Amino acid sequence: MKLLLVLLFYLVGTVLASPTIPLEETNGTPGDGRIIGGYEVTDSKLFPHQVGLVYNNSFLCGGSVLSEIFVLTAAHCVYGLLDITKLYVHAGTVFLYGGSNIQIANVSAFQCYEHYNPVNSSGDLAILRTTGFTLNEYVRPVKLPLPGTTWSPGTMVTATGWGRYNNSNTDLSGILKAADLPLVSGIECEIEFSFNFTDHMLCMYGFNNNVCKGDSGGPVIATGSTNFLVGVVSFGSIPCATTIPAVIINVAYLEMRRFISEVTGL
Ligand SMILES: *[C@@H]1O[C@H](CO)[C@@H](O)[C@H](O)[C@H]1NC(C)=O
Ligand SMILES: *[C@@H]1O[C@H](CO)[C@@H](O)[C@H](O)[C@H]1NC(C)=O
Ligand SMILES: *[C@@H]1O[C@H](CO)[C@@H](O)[C@H](O)[C@H]1NC(C)=O
Ligand SMILES: *[C@@H]1O[C@H](CO)[C@@H](O)[C@H](O)[C@H]1NC(C)=O
Ligand SMILES: *[C@@H]1O[C@H](CO)[C@@H](O)[C@H](O)[C@H]1NC(C)=O
Repeated sequence: MKLLLVLLFYLVGTVLASPTIPLEETNGTPGDGRIIGGYEVTDSKLFPHQVGLVYNNSFLCGGSVLSEIFVLTAAHCVYGLLDITKLYVHAGTVFLYGGSNIQIANVSAFQCYEHYNPVNSSGDLAILRTTGFTLNEYVRPVKLPLPGTTWSPGTMVTATGWGRYNNSNTDLSGILKAADLPLVSGIECEIEFSFNFTDHMLCMYGFNNNVCKGDSGGPVIATGSTNFLVGVVSFGSIPCATTIPAVIINVAYLEMRRFISEVTGL
């Protein structure tokens, strides 16, 4: 299926209804920290599906390698982006910028999930078509779950990203961080974010240990698996990693899986 270039309207500067905020980052500066809590990833072979999106020379979001050319991210990371020629993806590195095995690909087109709703973040998935990566031990596709796979509360997942590591400032992590977290019942997210939590979302809890701004679009894999994708980081609240959970998009959900298959053939 053909990827459409989605160019809608300029959204930078708008915010979702408090306390729901998207976790992309547009103006942070690299620091020496990471995700809130969690641990540093020093080996670039550990999360070889992790990519970083850079727009107009600023780090924007995380993402996952789906194949040599396709990257999965959150729709709110790219929706309304003005100039796709200013967007690139880096892979093969744990560093926010650079690294000896780094590969950089440009983005030729992207497609947001067709029912993505930028007001309430429903259906927050997008696929980028890139100029391509050379797959190796540092750059490897995620494994997608079987369509319809369900995840029960208590399932441990691992989120990775270069997002903010300290609620006191807006610095991004200079090195990739990971956090092992439990999924909790959707009711926990429904209460906090007062929307009707739907099956295409999963709720992830981590007091002092959770994703933050800049981690959006990034992978959440089954803990202990090398690269088995459970979800894509969507939104949470600021400050991060309080008793308020974060929301990820469930890639096994039939409708999300259909979208991925239709666009990528995977
Ligand atoms: C890119 O960044 C420059 C300098 O910060 C800014 O003036 C320009 O408007 C930005 N361009 C886009 C397309 O966001
Ligand atoms: C990506 O775009 C930049 C700037 O337009 C260009 O210099 C570079 O060669 C491109 N890289 C690839 C892999 O196409
Ligand atoms: C977070 O920032 C505060 C204030 O700058 C600092 O005191 C604290 O040590 C930082 N914490 C971490 C984990 O970097
Ligand atoms: C978001 O809004 C759409 C359109 O109004 C609605 O169909 C959907 O249920 C809403 N999603 C959530 C999670 O509230
Ligand atoms: C959730 O769904 C119920 C029943 O359909 C509806 O009355 C309520 O307004 C919805 N809440 C939100 C926040 O969309």
